Amino acid sequence: MTTLGTPLSPSATRVMLLGAGELGKEVLIALQRLGVETIAVDRYEHAPGQQVAHHARTIAMSDPAALRALIEAERPHLVVPEIEAIATPMLQELEAAGVVRVIPTARAARLTMDREGIRRLAAETLGLPTSPYRFCDSLAELQAAIDGADGMPGVGYPCIVKPVMSSSGKGQSKVDGPADVRTAWDYAMAGGRVAHGRVIVEGFVDFDYEITQLTVRALGADGRVHTHFCDPIGHVQVAGDYVESWQPHPMHPAALDRARAIAKAITDDLGGQGLFGVELFVKGEQVWFSEVSPRPHDTGMVTMTTQWQNEFELHARAILGLPVDTALKSAGASAVIYGGVDAKGIVFDGVDAALALPGVELRLFGKPESFVKRRMGVALARAADVETARLIAKDAAARVNPRAA
Ligand SMILES: Nc1ncnc2c1ncn2[C@@H]1O[C@H](COP(=O)(O)OP(=O)(O)OP(=O)(O)O)[C@@H](O)[C@H]1O
Ligand SMILES: [Mg+2]
Repeated sequence: MTTLGTPLSPSATRVMLLGAGELGKEVLIALQRLGVETIAVDRYEHAPGQQVAHHARTIAMSDPAALRALIEAERPHLVVPEIEAIATPMLQELEAAGVVRVIPTARAARLTMDREGIRRLAAETLGLPTSPYRFCDSLAELQAAIDGADGMPGVGYPCIVKPVMSSSGKGQSKVDGPADVRTAWDYAMAGGRVAHGRVIVEGFVDFDYEITQLTVRALGADGRVHTHFCDPIGHVQVAGDYVESWQPHPMHPAALDRARAIAKAITDDLGGQGLFGVELFVKGEQVWFSEVSPRPHDTGMVTMTTQWQNEFELHARAILGLPVDTALKSAGASAVIYGGVDAKGIVFDGVDAALALPGVELRLFGKPESFVKRRMGVALARAADVETARLIAKDAAARVNPRAA
């Protein structure tokens, strides 16, 4: 049985979000609607989620001492990581000491913090199909990993080089031949989240399409965790960053079965309660595991218009021990609105024109500072079919013009 309290009173159910960007903001709104007392933490002030939470805290979440001090001072019932760059070993320590419960588990947060933990778990421990890969600590090792050495086959060309610690495509590049290797190495060194020179090189998977399989681990009436699947989300990535997504993405039944078996295997192992975004590549009936977020996924923002319970509400319900419903409401699509300008306190022209389109909604995240390639908002469109929804969502996003004030 789940009992929820009254916020700002001694009975409050208190939840701390570590990371308060656009995804955290929607989780916070879903929690607010259930009368949960919320604490939004980010590394800068006025982060989107901090604007809708009861409490806002600004710390370096990668600093273990600062993270510990904050958790011990606030004593939330649940800690919900929204980003990867967190001092996750400290979360493991606090969880083991019974100080706090981490969503979905502190181990899941740690394993998914860098590409190595999750890739080794998926490919080597669970035997899931992935692209061929190697980890390398120098340019020479990278070259050997591509070419093959000591009787080990290389990953070959084309391949993709990524810093082990990075997200949204930062520091990631495709290598088509020997001439690109040094450039890719240098780019990865400049784009990683922390200054340590480790990369993964992956063989390029020539997929037909890629999907996000949103997967929810939630308590059922029997008090046990059950796995629920949302309809597959298709998406387009440019330079490793999502620009467009839609739901449902049509799939061959055999490919869908494989996708869900992979999603079940990885989320069973990560455990706990909550929503996961499992990224998969598909070619015909063949499916490869790419990576997983133990939290709502950016491509899943489309569910704000396509599902009865969007991915943020599903996450909120699952972590609180409440029942979930992953049913689709309508076909729909999302299109990203980039800042297009480096400036603080920007304004958005054309919001009225975008909202005049049929079935369109907008989310403007309220980020205090815009960058040319920073995601500042998203356009959502519902329609009778995915193709129409994609056209409308892209049109709506294009009608919104961010500019310096
Ligand atoms: N081995 C691969 N073969 C083909 N395409 C790939 C491969 N790895 C990555 N990609 C492409 O690059 C995109 C981003 O890769 P990945 O998800 O690993 O990076 P990321 O930085 O974690 O991105 P995000 O944080 O947005 O999920 C993928 O969605 C896919 O389109
Ligand atoms: Mg990804």
